[in-house]
Amino acid sequence: MNKIIVANWKMNPSTLKEAKELFDFASSIDSKHEVIVCPPFVYLEPLLKSLETINYKLKTKLGSQNCHWEEKGAYTGEISPYMLKDLGVKYVIVGHSERRWQFGETDEMVNQKVLAVFNNKMIPVLAVGEREKDENKEEFVINQVEKAVIGVSKEKLANIIFAYEPVWAIDTGLADNPDNALSMALLIRKTASKIIGDNAVSKLKVLYGGSVDSKNVAGFLNQDGIDGLLIGGASVKREEFKKILEL
Ligand code: PGA
Repeated sequence: MNKIIVANWKMNPSTLKEAKELFDFASSIDSKHEVIVCPPFVYLEPLLKSLETINYKLKTKLGSQNCHWEEKGAYTGEISPYMLKDLGVKYVIVGHSERRWQFGETDEMVNQKVLAVFNNKMIPVLAVGEREKDENKEEFVINQVEKAVIGVSKEKLANIIFAYEPVWAIDTGLADNPDNALSMALLIRKTASKIIGDNAVSKLKVLYGGSVDSKNVAGFLNQDGIDGLLIGGASVKREEFKKILEL
């Protein structure tokens, strides 16, 4: 089944030359999946340009790893959703745990970003997930989902992409097991369906993220209730990413 693979490059690679090469490589892989590459901000425009000029096999799309919620103003160092839309970006990761826990993003900020991304006609890839393994994860994740979507219309919410990303599994090599990831994906879907109804919820997507690699990827992709993956480390390793996309 075709899934969505979001490649979160984080703060990699170190040069534009490497970024272009990595993007060309990823985009030339024959994959049945829909691929959304999220590079650092400074690489977005050059990569969007190469998408226009090269006849890729894949319909690779580009997304941003973050944005501010205001359209412009005195926010030193920030990038607005309007600027991203103007460039031609279609997706924005919102609420990634590295933003929440390293840069102090609150549920309220995440909510403002979700609203701003939708208002600028892009799709948020909304990351949620518990911090510790022994936490009451269901309650924690339901709370994050509910707070992130306050004020979002039902029509817009039906298009959101959620990513269940337990923080303890991110960049640790300790991926969640696919059955647990599935039950959390179903919980997120159920939480959303209470807001937008059972019919509309069939459209939205729920991904899993956290230490996905070529060895464990099949376990997640084989779950019908998991619509794809958000991949960090393995998305900047060429051969790893190739094996994942070819599945
Ligand atoms: P990882 O990162 O695949 O390196 O664990 C996932 C993420 O940051 O979303």
